[in-house]
Amino acid sequence: MLRLTQFLKQKETSNDLIELINLLMSACKEVDSKLQNGDLEGILGSAELENVQGEVQKKLDVIANDIVKLTLQQSKLVRGMASEEEDHSVAANPEGKYLVTFDPLDGSSNIDVNVSVGTIFSILRAPEDLVGCNDEAFLQAGNTQVAAGYVLYGPSCLLVLTTGEGVNIFTLGHNGEFYLTRENVRIPDTTQEFAINMSNQRFWEQPIRDYVDDLLLGEEGPRGKRYNMRWVASMVAEVHRILTRGGVFMYPWDSREPHKPGKLRLMYEGNPMSMLVEQAGGRSTNTKIEIMNVDPESIHERTAVILGSREEVDTVMDYHQKAR
Ligand code: AHG
Ligand code: MN
Ligand code: MN
Repeated sequence: MLRLTQFLKQKETSNDLIELINLLMSACKEVDSKLQNGDLEGILGSAELENVQGEVQKKLDVIANDIVKLTLQQSKLVRGMASEEEDHSVAANPEGKYLVTFDPLDGSSNIDVNVSVGTIFSILRAPEDLVGCNDEAFLQAGNTQVAAGYVLYGPSCLLVLTTGEGVNIFTLGHNGEFYLTRENVRIPDTTQEFAINMSNQRFWEQPIRDYVDDLLLGEEGPRGKRYNMRWVASMVAEVHRILTRGGVFMYPWDSREPHKPGKLRLMYEGNPMSMLVEQAGGRSTNTKIEIMNVDPESIHERTAVILGSREEVDTVMDYHQKAR
């Protein structure tokens, strides 16, 4: 079986990018080992702190953030980073050529119930004319990402990675090496499975309500087939299921906080997941434009997210177009 580094070398990935990906993986392996110890280290539960988004942080949100941040700060390659758990970008090496955005622990409401969580990351180039590091440097559309991926801390610890030439999956062995276990993953174009938090139904816009209503009608409805539903509340786990067997994931805009364009964050959730999904032949939109075409205005910008099997996402868009 091919090791991560061997595989990337075969694909002619630059040595710098290989070094950065390996560095990120060293941090993720540390997060994985913390998660495995859990209560044995007294690290479950709330940190009783709030992040810049007004969310209460779990102890492991803070621990995972510190691990990834301190690891990246050691690298000569990293100019700076932006994290869900940091108010502003954090500088690293003033000569570094890459910027990294990350969600240190995605799905953190699932930590205490021992359900899968993950780390999501996106790698961007530092702009040529950038001096030092600032928040503005990160405001690049998703279609400029050099690489993106996530580590899923589930029954197996997996790295799902794209460097812009398809999506590949690596499994962490007991020897601490990631091995290539699935090459060039493709999302089926059609599906009979959807993922949405149904408890928000009354806050959705009409097109999403109409679309989901029609799915629920099954064989007797306009879609003419029976649909199944899943909601893990960890985006990493949902995207992983979609990469594995297809599906559509939706976290649409809703009227609970009408001034925000959505719940999920563009720079370290929307963009990296969209790159993976598109690289696997799927589609990802905010219902107005493709997510990776959005010009970000702030590092913690929110976005609506509809992603997954291409034909199903097209159908969601048809419901929106009809309503315009
Ligand atoms: P995070 O734990 O990084 O804040 O992200 C949680 C996200 C995402 O992973 C998941 O799809 C969604 O929030 C779940 O939201 P609800 O609890 O509203 O269903
Ligand atoms: Mn998240
Ligand atoms: Mn998070």
